[in-house]
Amino acid sequence: MRLLCLTYALFAACILEVEASNCSPFPSSVIEFSSGFKQPDPPLIKAEYGTSFIQHKWNQNMSHITTGFIENSPSQLIVRVDEAFNGTLASSVFNYANSTKEGLVDNTLTSYDKLGKSTVWREFVNSNFPLFPESLLIENDAVFGGLVDRQLNDGPVATWNIMYQGAIPVTVYVNSCNIMVGYDYFSPGLRTRVITEYFNIQV
Ligand SMILES: *[C@@H]1O[C@H](CO)[C@@H](O)[C@H](O)[C@H]1NC(C)=O
Ligand SMILES: *[C@@H]1O[C@H](CO)[C@@H](O)[C@H](O)[C@H]1NC(C)=O
Ligand SMILES: *[C@@H]1O[C@H](CO)[C@@H](O)[C@H](O)[C@H]1NC(C)=O
Repeated sequence: MRLLCLTYALFAACILEVEASNCSPFPSSVIEFSSGFKQPDPPLIKAEYGTSFIQHKWNQNMSHITTGFIENSPSQLIVRVDEAFNGTLASSVFNYANSTKEGLVDNTLTSYDKLGKSTVWREFVNSNFPLFPESLLIENDAVFGGLVDRQLNDGPVATWNIMYQGAIPVTVYVNSCNIMVGYDYFSPGLRTRVITEYFNIQV
């Protein structure tokens, strides 16, 4: 690449090549308060991914902060979460192929305490880690929420608002490559707020 850039004649081609390997930036029509604004159509997202994450969940009575690695695989109907928090290492597999009509998901949780003792626990749960399919935004008829900057991601990202399972308002953050970079939600029933940021994302 560096050699290619050495002469001016090749410089333009070099720039093009660099840009082709990235994604095109957001068009000016998605900038709020611009006269040419037009709500974009919800995109398909790249849904088979592994990513580092940090998550904070809180309500009136608790505050839980965790970090680790998520694998989201709609093709296998599996979300796998490896995480570490205060005194515990845990690995959680959510098997969406086995879920109830109320939306509870088969969860196998293996955790290790401070002494390294492992516990395996399996039950249907209300998952904190939804399985995000490629058509998440389209199926849910997502509403564009504008562009924002996120501390852990490069450049502005688009926000999309959906009602997950018709009940939980979720904001999904998607970069201009249609890669999800995080999500926030508010659970009205449990009066709980959850924010999740992704980084080191591999699609
Ligand atoms: C918090 O705890 C109080 C007292 O136990 C309880 O009344 C309230 O429902 C709890 N709130 C949540 C969101 O769990
Ligand atoms: C970690 O857990 C211990 C024991 O339950 C508790 O005293 C401490 O406040 C916790 N620390 C954090 C940062 O949550
Ligand atoms: C479905 O999940 C439940 C709850 O974790 C579990 O008890 C059951 O064995 C699972 N069934 C299958 C077919 O995996």
